[in-house]
Amino acid sequence: MKINKFEVVVEQYNSSDELTAKEKNLLHEAKVAVKNSYAPYSEFHVGAAVLLENGEIIHGNNQENTAYPSGLCAERVALFYAKSKYPDVAVKAIAITAKADHFVIKEPIAPCGACRQVIAETEHRQANKIRVIMQGQNGPVVATEGIDNLLPMVFQEDGLKKKKISNR
Ligand code: THU
Repeated sequence: MKINKFEVVVEQYNSSDELTAKEKNLLHEAKVAVKNSYAPYSEFHVGAAVLLENGEIIHGNNQENTAYPSGLCAERVALFYAKSKYPDVAVKAIAITAKADHFVIKEPIAPCGACRQVIAETEHRQANKIRVIMQGQNGPVVATEGIDNLLPMVFQEDGLKKKKISNR
């Protein structure tokens, strides 16, 4: 038996003032995106802003539904929309933030497991790693370079891409 240890690297900043101007702007865009969140059930509004290689910034926000599992997280709304509009343009970074109706979110918001899986697929399709930048309403920021830092031992199976149908 052997123990495999995985190292993850996460940068911690005291505030968004320590970020580059581009990163700070992306976080600002995520905060703008929060405003169109539809979260009447959780009252927890999440915003995501995706920076593409062509310079475009795509907004996403959580969209809930009275049939709860039918809703979708902000990150996936943004990433799927980015892919639908610019199918061949790589994603450089995603900023994530949140605002709750009844309490102040002081700590960074990290993407849920399903969103991490979608960030992974996006990253695996392209050459560059995706930078993930996270913040609550304000306060500390955490950032990480590449999905391996958020999702070690990811499920990835290229054999499922049925490029040729061989078993007919
Ligand atoms: N949510 C997101 O939008 N992103 C995440 O990564 C975690 C959770 C949403 C889903 C739901 O609308 C609300 O936050 C509460 O879970």
